[in-house]
This record gives sequence, C-alpha cells and structure tokens, in this order.
Amino acid sequence: MKNRLVLVTGGTGYIGSHTAVELMNEGFDVVIVDNLSNSEKSVLDGITAITGRRAFFEQFDICDKERLRDFFKVYKKLDAIIHFAAYKAVGESVEKPLMYYQNNLTTLMNLFEGMVEFKVPYFVFSSSATVYGQPDILPVTERAPFKPADSPYGNTKQIAEEIMRDAVNANKDLHAISLRYFNPIGAHPSALIGELPRGVPNNLVPFITQTAIGIRDELKVFGDDYNTPDGTAIRDYINVVDLAKAHVVSIQRMIEGKSKSNLEIFNLGTGKGSSVMEIVNAFEKSTGEKLKFKIVGRRAGDVESVYADTKYANEELGWKAKVDLEETLLSAWNWEKYVRNKKRSRLKTN
Ligand code: NAD
Ligand code: UFG
Repeated sequence: MKNRLVLVTGGTGYIGSHTAVELMNEGFDVVIVDNLSNSEKSVLDGITAITGRRAFFEQFDICDKERLRDFFKVYKKLDAIIHFAAYKAVGESVEKPLMYYQNNLTTLMNLFEGMVEFKVPYFVFSSSATVYGQPDILPVTERAPFKPADSPYGNTKQIAEEIMRDAVNANKDLHAISLRYFNPIGAHPSALIGELPRGVPNNLVPFITQTAIGIRDELKVFGDDYNTPDGTAIRDYINVVDLAKAHVVSIQRMIEGKSKSNLEIFNLGTGKGSSVMEIVNAFEKSTGEKLKFKIVGRRAGDVESVYADTKYANEELGWKAKVDLEETLLSAWNWEKYVRNKKRSRLKTN
C-alpha cells in the first residue's frame, strides 16, 4: 500500500525488524520507535540492505508520554501502529514484576491515548500463546479461556488485551487486532536480520544455534517425562517471516474495512506441535551439524504441550504459515554464523 505510514514500536527488535521489512516490501512507509533497551541501531542497516529503503527512526522510551506526544505532533499522518515494544523475559518478570507491568502496560496505554488524541485509527498488538497456559483442549482456539498467568510477563499480555477491549469499546473509531504468537523462530532468509538475545538465551532455538557454534557447551533438554510421544514438551514453532507477514495482512484488513469487530484476535502458529527432541533432530538434519545435548529436569513454569488451531487465522484473516521447520532452523543457523563472523571481523579490525 503506497503513501501509508505505519509506526512500528520496538522495530529494531527481533519480530519488529522482520515486520518492518515486510511492510516496506508491500510499499508501506515505516517509522520505527525503539529505545534500544534490547536491540541495536545497526539493525536499521540490515533492514535497508534487504529492502533498499530506509525506515524513519526515533530513539526514545514510549513510557515517556510527553516525548510520545511530541512524536505524534511530528508524524501527523500515521495510518496505523504495530506495537512490539515490551520486555519479554519470563524469568526476569518473576524477579522484577513492577518493571514488567510498568513497561508493558504504560507503553500500551500511552499509545492508545495518543491514538485517540491524534486520530490514529488502527492498532496491532503482540500478544502471546502464554495467555492460554496449558489449554484443556488441543489444538487451542482463540475461544479458549485464559488460564491464571504463570508469570507477570504472561499477565501483562492478558491485562493488555483487556485494556484494548475497553479502549476500543469506548472509542468506536479505533480498531485493534491482537495477534497471539506461538513460538516465533528463525531469521530472514538473507541472514541480514535475526534474533539477538543478550547473555544466555532462554529460548530453545537461540540456545541450539549457540551450542552448535561452540558458545555453549551443550543444550539442556528440560524434561523427558512429559506425557508426549518422546517425553519432551511440545510447542508450535512458527517462522518469523511468516509471522511478520500476518501483521501486514492485519493492517491491510483494517484499512480495507474488513474487520468484523473493533477488537479481533487471531492465533499465529502453524497448527503443528513439535517436541524439543524433534527440533533437535530437525536442526541436525537441515544443517548437518551435530548437537551436544543432555536431558535434565523440567523447567519451572513450563507447560506440557501447546499448539494452535489456525483455522480462524487461515480462513478469516486469510493468512497461513508457509515456511517449513527445517528451512526455518537453517535460517536461524545461517543468522548465527553471520553474527559470529561479523563479531570476529569487528574484533580483527579493532
Ligand atoms: P525484542 O526484545 O527483540 O523487541 C522488543 C523491542 O522493544 C526491543 O528492540 C526493545 O529495545 C524495545 N523496547 C522495549 N521497551 C521499550 C520502550 N519502553 N520504549 C521503546 N522501545 C522499547 O522482542 P521480540 O521477540 O521482537 O518481541 C516483540 C513482541 O512480541 C513483544 O511484545 C513480546 O512480548 C511479543 N512476543 C514475543 C514472543 C517471542 O518468542 N519472541 C512470543 C510471544 C510474544
Ligand atoms: N527448552 C529446553 N532447553 C532450553 C530452552 C528451552 O529444553 O535451553 C524447552 C522448553 O522447556 C520448552 C521448549 O524448549 O519446552 C520451548 O521453550 P522456549 O523457552 O523457547 O519457549 P516457551 O514456549 O517457553 O515460551 C515462548 C516465549 C514466551 C511466549 C511463549 C508463547 O519465550 O515469551 O513462547 O508460546 F509467551
């Protein structure tokens, strides 16, 4: 879509950067706001190298309401907002709950206040499958009830959806779509952007690629005594570029007036569950690398099995995940190699 400007908050982060690329590929103009608390400015170069265009970039904290108002005054013609900016480490949220409630909810409320004041009609939110906890029925549909949140992080996503519901009910000009991500993995096929975890990764796939490249000694597989075919826990791993495309489709849907209600909710997954050991095997198969791993006890707070019912997203949103698991794991591996080579050549030149 030409001449449409989208604000991407958290756009130098993992999912935001891939979404900025897909938006720009579809002709949207993009302005990124990020405080770089969990990303690097050089990501903008990766986006430019892929798309041949430069996103606008403003570095500030969206919790700063006055700074955000100034931003809205400058970028007067915003058509939509995609809100990725948040803290996302589940374990950290247990230790620092107030930091999570503060950041994840203040940013959301500040943005909604700005949308009302400056008349920005459309909003897409990064929600999470974590809102379902361990669902009673699998695959899980959007109608499944919330389970009590396992962590303050998970709770911020549940509360955020309630805030959005109340905000759109009170402002009939606003439309929002909440996208519940399952487990986003992989990187752009160019290997120019990808996930950049700080410190020891919590998530499975970055831990696998860092182990394969020699930064970590071995992968710890958390539990092989679950009630699953091979005993390891099951998740729905979705390619990050496929995930990014769903955001573009969501914006187009609202602009074209296709929304069925002011707040719509869609699961973003593949519909297929994979166990931890299946991921390890698929990684070895697609990359030819041998992975050192050890089975250890379960990780606190982990659910046994969760994967998406994708029917509603496929049929109503008109979006479907396409890239298969092996190709996705290979993209994560290519990105890991690219990052390490870049670090090595930086060290050599210093
Ligand atoms: P990320 O940390 O890579 O990206 C988030 C970006 O937001 C970072 O660049 C960070 O610097 C920025 N940011 C954080 N707080 C900010 C603030 N107050 N002001 C401005 N910028 C701020 O994370 P991601 O993996 O890309 O996740 C994006 C969104 O998707 C988050 O809301 C996350 O909760 C949600 N989500 C992620 C996953 C996942 O597995 N990655 C799963 C479900 C939901
Ligand atoms: N796992 C290991 N070893 C590791 C890391 C993970 O065995 O070193 C296992 C976990 O126990 C789990 C699976 O791999 O069974 C996936 O774990 P991740 O940490 O990659 O992902 P989670 O499903 O725990 O959580 C992720 C995001 C959350 C989000 C959720 C949505 O981190 O933010 O997906 O489903 F809410």
